Amino acid sequence: MTKQQTLKVMISEEQLAERIQALGAEIQAHYNGEPVAVIGVLKGCFLFLADLCRELHEDVTVDFLGLSSYRGTASTGVVRLTSDLKVDIQGRHVLIVEDIVDTGLTMQYLLKMLKTREPASLAVCTLLDKPSRRKASVHVDFCGFSIQDRFVVGYGLDLDERYRNLPYIAEVLFD
Ligand code: IMP
Ligand code: MG
Repeated sequence: MTKQQTLKVMISEEQLAERIQALGAEIQAHYNGEPVAVIGVLKGCFLFLADLCRELHEDVTVDFLGLSSYRGTASTGVVRLTSDLKVDIQGRHVLIVEDIVDTGLTMQYLLKMLKTREPASLAVCTLLDKPSRRKASVHVDFCGFSIQDRFVVGYGLDLDERYRNLPYIAEVLFD
């Protein structure tokens, strides 16, 4: 029997555009003209990063890395690097761009790994944050929207690789 899913718009295309513009301004002000190495976490970041980095008008480089997290049980998240950066980040101001911080386990792993490469600074920008789900305490420097514990798709986020192309964020209602 196939599971039915209904999507309910949570954050519209217009709301995303407006918030990302403001987030871009916040990030610009923070770095104050210093060069920034923007690092996107694949694949969920792809639309957010594309829109966000167009709001950053300073000296910016863009690179990507791939992570996968396996969740055998709900309580443990084992994270693995599937694709590494192509550039050296030593001495650079690094801004990690993620789609969502949920338990925080992925971000905790990533921060620990990137710190060993000795960047000048390391900051986290996430489009969505689900603080109520946190298992690892991670500091989020820039956040688009803080949301409740709902499963969401669209604008890069997927459900079994589907729905990444939606121009808005939708809540999945499983029925
Ligand atoms: P964390 O390690 O639990 O913080 O999970 C981070 C990753 O889980 C995100 O980068 C997403 O790929 C995925 N994830 C968490 N919540 C959602 C959701 O509501 N929709 C789609 N993917 C999610
Ligand atoms: Mg992700």
